[in-house]
Amino acid sequence: MDATNHQIRLAARPTGEPVPSDWAHTEEPVPTPEDGQILVRVTHLSLDPAMRAWLDDRPSYIPPVGLNEVMRALAGGEVVESKNPGFAVGDHVTGVFGVQEYAISDGRGVQKVDPSAVPMTTYLSALGMTGMTAYFGLFDVGALKDGETVLISGAAGAVGSMVGQLAKIKGCRVIGIAGGAEKCATLTDELGFDAAVDYKVDGWSRGLREAAPDGVDVFFDNVGGEVLDAGLRRLARGARVVICGAISQYNSGQPYGPKNYLSLLVNRARMEGFVVFDFANRYAEAGAEIAGWLRAGKLHSKEHVVTGSVGDFPATLPKLFRGENLGKLVLQIGKD
Ligand SMILES: NC(=O)c1ccc[n+]([C@@H]2O[C@H](COP(=O)([O-])OP(=O)(O)OC[C@H]3O[C@@H](n4cnc5c(N)ncnc54)[C@H](OP(=O)(O)O)[C@@H]3O)[C@@H](O)[C@H]2O)c1
Repeated sequence: MDATNHQIRLAARPTGEPVPSDWAHTEEPVPTPEDGQILVRVTHLSLDPAMRAWLDDRPSYIPPVGLNEVMRALAGGEVVESKNPGFAVGDHVTGVFGVQEYAISDGRGVQKVDPSAVPMTTYLSALGMTGMTAYFGLFDVGALKDGETVLISGAAGAVGSMVGQLAKIKGCRVIGIAGGAEKCATLTDELGFDAAVDYKVDGWSRGLREAAPDGVDVFFDNVGGEVLDAGLRRLARGARVVICGAISQYNSGQPYGPKNYLSLLVNRARMEGFVVFDFANRYAEAGAEIAGWLRAGKLHSKEHVVTGSVGDFPATLPKLFRGENLGKLVLQIGKD
C-alpha cells in the first residue's frame, strides 16, 4: 500500500502527568503484511489509565512501553490486507494495535467484531476490557450477592459506570463517588444509581455516611488515595474491597498508602486486587451476558468519544487524569 503510517512513540518517560514532549510523532510507509499477517487500519483507540503505568520503567503485570516504541493501545479497526486465512479484507477487529494509523498483526489476540450490531466504541467499552473488568471485578473478586450495598469510586468513568449498572441489575443499593455535580447527576438520573457523592466538595465524606448509614458490602475502588481511605471507613461487617485501580496515584512517584486499613480487621473484611487478563478464558461468558443486558436495555455503554487523528493522542490521554471524560474515553480516528 502506497501510503504513510502516522504514529505516536514514547520519546521520554514522564514524571507526573505526561506532557507533549514525552511523545514523538513519526511517520513511515504503511507496511506490507507477510504470510500469516494482516494489515489493520486503525479507526478507534481505547484510552486507558493503565497507559500511564506502562510508561514507567518498573515491574508491573505487563512490560513497560520501551523508549521510541509505538505507544501500546487497545484499538479497533478494519482489515485492509490479509495474508492470514482467518481474516478477510473488510473484517472489523479489535486488538492491541498501538497508537498508529496502520498495524501489522499475526492475528493472535485479535477479535472479529460486528459494528452493525453495536458501534465499534462499544466493543472497546461494555463489550471490551472495560466491561470485562467491571464484570469480573464485581462478581468474582467482589463476590457480590443480590441486594447488597455497593460503593464505587471513579463511578462516572468507564469501569465505574458499568459496575454501578451491573450492581443495579442484581438488585443492589448503589452509591457512586464522582467529581462534580454533572457527573453525580448523570449517575442518579441517567444510570440508576441510588446516590452519588461529589468528592470535590468539602466535607464530602459526610455525604458518604448519609448515603450508606449501615455501611457497604462491596467497595469497588478505581481511585485509591484519600478516596480509598474514606471508603474504608464505611465498610459493613464481612465487606469486600475490590482494588481495581488507583488513578489518583498513577502520576505520583510515591503512592499514598491507606490509613484506615484497620477497618478490615474490625469489620472482618477483605481487600483484594485483580488484573482482568487473569479472566481471559471467561471473556466469552461475560461478553454474552453483557450483550444480553445491552440488548434488553438494562445496561447503557457510556462512552466519551473524541474525534481526531493519532496526533491528538498526547492531548487526549490527560483527560483521564483531569476528570474530563464521562464514560469510556475513545479517540476515533477520522470519520469511521
Ligand atoms: N484491574 C484491572 O484489570 C483494570 C482494568 C481496567 C481498568 N482498571 C482501572 O480502573 C480504573 C478506572 O479505569 P477507567 O478506564 O474506567 O477510567 P475512567 O474512570 O473512565 O477515567 C478516569 C476517571 O478517574 C477520575 N480521576 C482522575 N484523577 C482522579 C483523582 N486524582 N482522584 C479521583 N478521581 C480521579 C476522573 O473522574 P472524576 O471526574 O470523577 O474525578 C476520571 O474521569 C483505573 O484506576 C484503571 O487503572 C483496572
